[in-house]
Amino acid sequence: MSKPFPDNFLWGGATAANQMEGAWDSDGKGLCVADVCLFKPNVDQTNMSQHWNITSEDIEAAKKSKDTTYYSKRHGIDFYHHYKEDIKLFAEMGFKVFRLSIAWSRIFPNGDELVPNEAGLKFYDEVFDELARYGIEPLVTMSHYEQPLYFSEKYDGWAARESIDFFTRYVEVICERYKKKVKYWITFNEIDSIIRHPFMSGGLIRDHFTDEESYQQAIYQAMHHQFVASALATKICHEKIPGAQVGCMITKQTYYPLTSKPEDVLSAQLDARELFAFSDTQVFGEYPAYLLKRYENEGIQLAVAEDDFKIMKENAVDFVSFSYYSSSCSAFDKTGLDINEGNTATTIKNPYLSATDWGWQIDPLGMRISLIELYDRYRKPLFVVENGLGAKDEMIDGIIKDDYRINYMNDHIVQISEAINQDGVEVLGYTSWGCIDLISNSTNQMEKRYGFIYVDVDDFGRGSYKRYKKSSFYWYKEIIATNGIALKPLVEV
Ligand code: BG6
Repeated sequence: MSKPFPDNFLWGGATAANQMEGAWDSDGKGLCVADVCLFKPNVDQTNMSQHWNITSEDIEAAKKSKDTTYYSKRHGIDFYHHYKEDIKLFAEMGFKVFRLSIAWSRIFPNGDELVPNEAGLKFYDEVFDELARYGIEPLVTMSHYEQPLYFSEKYDGWAARESIDFFTRYVEVICERYKKKVKYWITFNEIDSIIRHPFMSGGLIRDHFTDEESYQQAIYQAMHHQFVASALATKICHEKIPGAQVGCMITKQTYYPLTSKPEDVLSAQLDARELFAFSDTQVFGEYPAYLLKRYENEGIQLAVAEDDFKIMKENAVDFVSFSYYSSSCSAFDKTGLDINEGNTATTIKNPYLSATDWGWQIDPLGMRISLIELYDRYRKPLFVVENGLGAKDEMIDGIIKDDYRINYMNDHIVQISEAINQDGVEVLGYTSWGCIDLISNSTNQMEKRYGFIYVDVDDFGRGSYKRYKKSSFYWYKEIIATNGIALKPLVEV
């Protein structure tokens, strides 16, 4: 039997608007970057990188099309019309918190308007009111891969300085509107992912840039704009909402040296820094020396406005949140090594770990290692806002037995408990990813399911959209009800 979690531990689930809401063109919503991403049935779905490169030609074709079969994020799971039923199910599981994002393009359809879209604001009012009816705390991501498409096409998204003004206008509006309803906020989902998929995360279209050098320069500039915007969003939240808690969010990639060769240890350290650059900047409010040195060595010149560093310094985040799905290996010499797919990143295979159907290696202990690493580095409360198993679920006579998911989650949550009870780490809560099945971010598939709740819809948007409780639904309900006491000691996954 595991030790209990703190009394106020926030148990719940996580989602994102672009992967679940559907209603892609309803009530004044503008097109967002996710609405132009295609589900490609005949490709190797374990190869993530093929999905990231969206060209101007792809965008033109998408804008002309009303298709929702292949543009799968346009249909999602139709949360837009099912939110009451879904929230009721979350409440039945005992959720204390529900992580969702606000689609920027519902509030400012193009991103650069002066006046927000009232219908979009009203929708989230209703969602927050519904959550409040059950005493579920919303945890709101301001930007989760849903920048307005127009903002991307016209301004090159976050590469433009104006992005800061557009985003802060949006943040002013949502913080003012929801100041009595939302206490927990995250500024950018996986802010580090701009390096891996600049279109989804930053609205940058590769063919808008003449050469690789100017493209890379634009990515770093966009990164800087997001840091400043995140600091300003934190400021706005703190000013408008007394007691607001604002977090940064990173894709926790935990790096192990492939061998004990000092070169591999150094590689792991350097790989980790690629990620820490993002959380270091948001927690300490300034660029780490190692990042500035890299810019200097690589000739990257940032355009920085007079107050940018001051804004960043004065508005550090309150907590550090992260997604954790798997760990990674680092090696100095990568020749001939087995490569492994992971959450938006390709890494070196760890021979000691098994993997999911999509090739993501399963490493529950890495959760504890990640928590220790982050807490020792930052001494700020941590929030595990994504973790889960993407798997093919089968429904037989209305029943979905997903014991593999229960095992995966049990082992990861046990490691959170260990980090809290053995290592003294402060963890605010745990929101499992895709608590209700939704569209995969990377592959645009429906078949890759994460939820406790099965949604009857397939990769092409066909189905009744009816919701069914999986075995894991009842399991998670018991874990929450016992505050973790019902967790089993580690089991094999
Ligand atoms: C995270 C994202 O990277 O991983 C989510 O924040 C995403 O949006 C999740 O859905 C799982 O990845 P995927 O590609 O399996 O949906």
